[in-house]
Amino acid sequence: MLEQLHQLKERALSELQGLSSVDALEKWRVAYLGRKGALTNILRSVGQLPVQERPTVGQEANLVKLALKQAYNEKAEAFKREETLRLLEQEHIDVTLPGRPVQPGYLHVSTQTLREIYAIFAQMGFQVLETPEVETDVNNFQLLNIPPYHPARDMWSTFYTTHEGVLLRTHTSPGQIRAMRMYCPETIRLLLPGKCYRYEAVTARSESMFYQVEGLAVGKHVTMGDLKGVLISFARQMFGADRRVRFRCSYFPFTEPSVEVDMDCIICGGEGCRVCKHTGWVEILGAGMVHPQVLRNGGYDPTVYTGFAFGLGPERIAMLKYRIDDIRYFFGNDLRFLHQFA
Ligand code: FA5
Repeated sequence: MLEQLHQLKERALSELQGLSSVDALEKWRVAYLGRKGALTNILRSVGQLPVQERPTVGQEANLVKLALKQAYNEKAEAFKREETLRLLEQEHIDVTLPGRPVQPGYLHVSTQTLREIYAIFAQMGFQVLETPEVETDVNNFQLLNIPPYHPARDMWSTFYTTHEGVLLRTHTSPGQIRAMRMYCPETIRLLLPGKCYRYEAVTARSESMFYQVEGLAVGKHVTMGDLKGVLISFARQMFGADRRVRFRCSYFPFTEPSVEVDMDCIICGGEGCRVCKHTGWVEILGAGMVHPQVLRNGGYDPTVYTGFAFGLGPERIAMLKYRIDDIRYFFGNDLRFLHQFA
């Protein structure tokens, strides 16, 4: 048996010397060291030998196994090295070739419009404050004079979370409450921008997710005249010095009085077209004097302080400015649309 082991070792090692591929090496491993390999067979038959021979043969068989494994590992390592050298030779990199140019990024048209809006209001002393998109029912509705039974909830229906009383805000107006509570009793001149969400049919003019920019001014002598002056100035800086602006009576539960602000249609110049629904005017925002109860909810005494607020939609502003006829392009991720604002 010892002789048999010796011959096996000699044969296996000499065969290993001549191997020239990884496939052949694998076949060699199976033939000698595999579960049904020659050496494994010998090791299995050790148990049938006379008891006194077993230790010597067993020990020798294990030594042969160790030697074959080690030789196998060395050969495998050598093949790996050869392969690496071959690849290095074949796939060498020419570092002198010019690189591929990286396309510079650019801002989304909504972001560009937001920044234009910030810049115009910054000149009038408005600072930007971001408030949360995930809001409480209390801030989004109740503290803005919209209790649970109020019909205005239909118009501002939204997406609710699984947490009772927590929702995605329908407008940036809950930011008014947060800002007032943060700054009371100081005077305030803020823009509160951000995304809003509504559970409504998506059309060419309405998305279920869009931006709003809320404006809020609170102080001791803030009047409707200030509101009108600020908004007319904004419209003219945004759309051109000869723009006409009109204030229409409206209703919001959180402002009193409330107005809707229209601008003469820049598409048809006030003649009447599809965009302005043949009226010559397009609505650009909602606004009003902050309701006394909302001031109180923010911590301000309405007998001492007054304020104005407005809420505008940057996508609708961009639609007018760039003559975009469908709001769905903004978040449709179509590069043919987005590249036009690079
Ligand atoms: C409001 O959301 C009020 N919070 C605005 C306000 C603020 C009034 C402060 C008074 C004082 P309204 O639902 O009309 O109002 O929305 C305001 C603006 O957001 C609209 O003029 C429009 O530009 C934009 N907007 C509203 N709904 C959508 C929509 N589904 N898709 C795109 N823009 C929208």
